[in-house]
Amino acid sequence: MPTAIVTGATGILGREIVYELGRHPQEWTTVHALSRSKKDVYPSNIVHNFIDLTADVQEVAKELKDVSADYIFFAAYLLKGSEEDNTKVNGDMLENLFKALEINNAVSHIKRIVLVTGCKQYGVHLGRAKTPMVESDPWLPEPPYPPNFYYRQQRSLHAFSAKHGIEWVVTYPNEVIGFAKGNFMNLAASIGLYAAVHRELGTGGLPFPGGATFYEKFDSLTYSRLHAEFCVWAATAPGAKNQAFNVVNGDVESWSNMWPKLAARYGMTVPGDQFSRPAPDASDVPMADNPPISFLAKALGLQGKTAQSHIEQTIDLAKWSQKPEVQAAWERLAEREGLEKDAFEKATWMFSGFVLGRNFDVIVSMSKARAAGWTGYHDTWESFEKVFDQLESEKILPKAIGRFVGWSMQQ
Ligand SMILES: NC(=O)c1ccc[n+]([C@@H]2O[C@H](COP(=O)([O-])OP(=O)(O)OC[C@H]3O[C@@H](n4cnc5c(N)ncnc54)[C@H](OP(=O)(O)O)[C@@H]3O)[C@@H](O)[C@H]2O)c1
Repeated sequence: MPTAIVTGATGILGREIVYELGRHPQEWTTVHALSRSKKDVYPSNIVHNFIDLTADVQEVAKELKDVSADYIFFAAYLLKGSEEDNTKVNGDMLENLFKALEINNAVSHIKRIVLVTGCKQYGVHLGRAKTPMVESDPWLPEPPYPPNFYYRQQRSLHAFSAKHGIEWVVTYPNEVIGFAKGNFMNLAASIGLYAAVHRELGTGGLPFPGGATFYEKFDSLTYSRLHAEFCVWAATAPGAKNQAFNVVNGDVESWSNMWPKLAARYGMTVPGDQFSRPAPDASDVPMADNPPISFLAKALGLQGKTAQSHIEQTIDLAKWSQKPEVQAAWERLAEREGLEKDAFEKATWMFSGFVLGRNFDVIVSMSKARAAGWTGYHDTWESFEKVFDQLESEKILPKAIGRFVGWSMQQ
């Protein structure tokens, strides 16, 4: 029966992989969940090991001396202030794990390594990329583009796997709809808090804080549970061997379709004039000079048509979250409903402003995974509802007031 190591076991993506393996104790007899902290009570087949992957490699090897497994899922992640620092720390963490396993003679057990990365692979953090994004799209040259830590991690994975005759898989999830204890850095938490505080402010409606352009454009999101199901499938699926895969829900969504549903959840509607009325709290921030699509402009026949992308917010979320009346409304709400006081301050307003404010489509193809035998699918709005329910039971969001029951209710 196979055994596994999961790094980043307390994170939004790693935690769900631990739980997915935990659901199948007959198949996965022992799962080593690795992280610096422990936040959950795990199923019986999970063993938690405290580890700091940034420590000296001999230290890491010592901590891992009793740990070996058939399959490795790498989902550890440290966010730094620059792409150079992200590349250094996240590349070093992966290589430290590899070196520690070599020191401990634990490499011969390993059958396949699944590395979790993301759609920054295509440069979505820099601006518009070609759509749909397909795994065979060329990697962006560094320079002129900034270093990409996923590229360093993948190069290390390829080299380590080739050296030891191990199989590998890489996943490219897009924005994640998920939950991790004590981690408020997620999109579902921020938009849920934004809606709940709007309700508390009593302004009578729920305006979309992103831009009018993106409201009607398309996005592809990743439910953390779907991603975990994919990782566990890909660890053993013959067709997944030595391949990188996009991992998104399998539907395509727009905020114009989902925002009225979020408003209904908190007993509000979307103001009909949200993009035509004065917008004193708007912001418009240019992204990288050359969006990723400009690298392919000649081949695509788009020369002169690949303008710089922008983050356009009708209500700048980072600034909105700092307003005294907004903070006072949160404090009232948190006090009355017994919510986690820290949640609002720790929520990722900047990240959510970026996700909702981009002025380009983010369409991620699942064709390669489907051709390899993957059949998983989750509806994106239902994924949000499930995570909102979880955030409610963890006292991060207040109880929902309503449910979207159809467009006729919105007239
Ligand atoms: N979240 C998203 O929306 C998203 C979207 C696309 C791609 N991704 C990618 O998915 C990957 C995982 O991200 P995530 O969002 O799941 O991260 P996360 O929620 O921030 O979790 C990071 C995990 O890494 C662990 N960790 C951090 N520093 C560590 C260290 N020094 N030693 C050992 N463990 C350490 C953390 O646990 P402790 O703090 O307890 O150590 C935690 O379990 C990253 O490559 C990320 O770029 C994320």
